[in-house]
Amino acid sequence: MSSSIKVVVTGAAGQIAYSLIPRLVNGRTFGDKKVDLALVEIPQVVDKLKGLLMELEDSYFPAMGRVTYTDNFSEAAKDADWFLLVGSIPRGIVYNGKKIEERSDLLSINGGIFVDQGKAIGSFGKDKAKILVVGNPANTNAFIGKNAADNESQLWMAMTMLDSNRAKSVISKKTGVNISEIKNMIIWGNHSPTMYPDSENVIINNQLGSTVINDISWVEKDFIPSVQQRGKAVINARGASSATSAAKAAIDTVMACESPTEEGNSFSAAIASDGSYDVPEGIICGFPLVTLSDGTIDIKRDIALSDFGKSKFQISIDELLSERDAVKHLMKWLMMKILKI
Ligand code: NAD
Ligand code: LMR
Repeated sequence: MSSSIKVVVTGAAGQIAYSLIPRLVNGRTFGDKKVDLALVEIPQVVDKLKGLLMELEDSYFPAMGRVTYTDNFSEAAKDADWFLLVGSIPRGIVYNGKKIEERSDLLSINGGIFVDQGKAIGSFGKDKAKILVVGNPANTNAFIGKNAADNESQLWMAMTMLDSNRAKSVISKKTGVNISEIKNMIIWGNHSPTMYPDSENVIINNQLGSTVINDISWVEKDFIPSVQQRGKAVINARGASSATSAAKAAIDTVMACESPTEEGNSFSAAIASDGSYDVPEGIICGFPLVTLSDGTIDIKRDIALSDFGKSKFQISIDELLSERDAVKHLMKWLMMKILKI
């Protein structure tokens, strides 16, 4: 083993985590690094993690380092390199007598979690730590967390890899091309029904999607809506939100960040906008990303969006701006800090 890495996972007793956690220590996700895990749950269920710890021990993963579990997030955050923030309420369940239908309905329920976790990550996480928010509404939760963390060296992301994987699968079925030959599958915007999966700039067997898929009606009526609504379709069929595919997508995101992106490819995640593609600065928006040879994650800035693509992307940007406005009250503490009140 060359070195070790510390990974914090919240929602560790939940559905996604059960599929995610073993893959973190399987020796592939972080290469030959030894992986220390800090698992976090709410006090009511934290003791269940004893069972998961037993199973991890019984699985005998040579890459597994020290595994701890706690309901104290700040304690878990100390010196962590990676944070996988899964812990939150999913949609599809009844909460306070109301069925949660849309991810945005979760804003008031889950948003608050990310203020305290963000503060702890900013103070106790390592400089240059990477944070992947999976819990919904992922983009705006990451926006809240990043602002609370107030540590510019750390990288906050929200997960759109699952949408990218779903889009690749649909394109693979349509074109008959194996999924391994489908690259640069960009999800622009929000992880929500407004996201824009880009069938024009995807690379299919080394060719641009816009030249391979000459079927705008299919793109508008089938492809885009099916990717946008896939989360709901899974909830309707399974009675619970995607778990194993979400775990796979989280692992794909970590692996994409851990090694340089091959020339011409990109991976999907949402990060804070720096104004690229005219997206207002600060909102956590889905972009094509690349990992550079020094490990830095950057936005790939040379994608040509068509007028059609720009108009679809704008719908999602507008939604992110309205979500940002809806959580302004959670930024109050930050304003007080800036104004030194
Ligand atoms: P789940 O209900 O099975 O598990 C969530 C777990 O989080 C629970 O065990 C709960 O006790 C825990 N939790 C709640 N608040 C916490 C806190 N403050 N700290 C630590 N743990 C906490 O749900 P799941 O299926 O694992 O889904 C988790 C989240 O991921 C949901 O919000 C879901 O909508 C979201 N999700 C996102 C994507 C994506 O692509 N971004 C995909 C699938 C699911
Ligand atoms: C998904 O896309 O499967 C998740 O965001 C869960 C959901 O609520 O759709």
